[in-house]
Amino acid sequence: MEKVVVSIGGSVLIPEKDDAKYIKILADALKDLSDKVQLMVVCGGGIIARYYTNTGKELGGTTYQLDEMGIAVTRINAKLLSIALGEAGIDEIPVDPKRCADNSAPGKISVMGGTEPGHTTDAVAAMIAKYCGAARIVNASNVDAVYTDDPRKNPDAKRLSRMTIKELKEIVYDEHGAGKSSVFDPLGVKIAMENKIDILMVNGRDLDELKNAILGKDIKGTFVDSH
Ligand code: UTP
Repeated sequence: MEKVVVSIGGSVLIPEKDDAKYIKILADALKDLSDKVQLMVVCGGGIIARYYTNTGKELGGTTYQLDEMGIAVTRINAKLLSIALGEAGIDEIPVDPKRCADNSAPGKISVMGGTEPGHTTDAVAAMIAKYCGAARIVNASNVDAVYTDDPRKNPDAKRLSRMTIKELKEIVYDEHGAGKSSVFDPLGVKIAMENKIDILMVNGRDLDELKNAILGKDIKGTFVDSH
């Protein structure tokens, strides 16, 4: 059975309206797929992580301390999803990518958050994928694809249906230094590149799109070819 790692952005997991209802719908969609592919899911921190990092920053917290708070939130978010998965979930929220991969099984979805300061949960997804030899990483964010430029600022920005991982690397390394929100974590791109793991960038709110990505079918988002 193919193994697939999903990196879910915190803002996708927690829409801030009818959260329990939405998380249940998302969990049910994942559950339906868990006997077709072996699933591991990494949850981001979203608005709650931002609250802590912004408030901690105002209080003079170090980057390391802010990251630690971010990680704590990603783990609580992972717990929410694992609760919503019910029988298909696993009570333990691993703190180690290897453990996350080892805990998962057909019909059993292993969910985790961050690991250590210095990167985001996208990198954790890539670490899990590397360890278990995953067929692909699905990046479920609130953006529907990768564009040639910021579509909110540049009306000529083009949506990319396919790109190489080398092209993605160029984008994320430019962006990261500026502290902007990256399309995908640079360390995650590096790991995916070295291990030839494709990344599918999709809008996680579109559940049909998310399912297609997980199953390796055609998507409306961007297919990042690592081969
Ligand atoms: P996210 O993975 O949600 O980061 O982790 P993000 O990409 O900045 O957030 P979105 O996707 O735009 O909403 C939240 C924060 O937790 C810390 C980082 O500070 C990160 O920004 N973190 C997370 C770590 O330091 N290490 C990890 O392994 C994971």
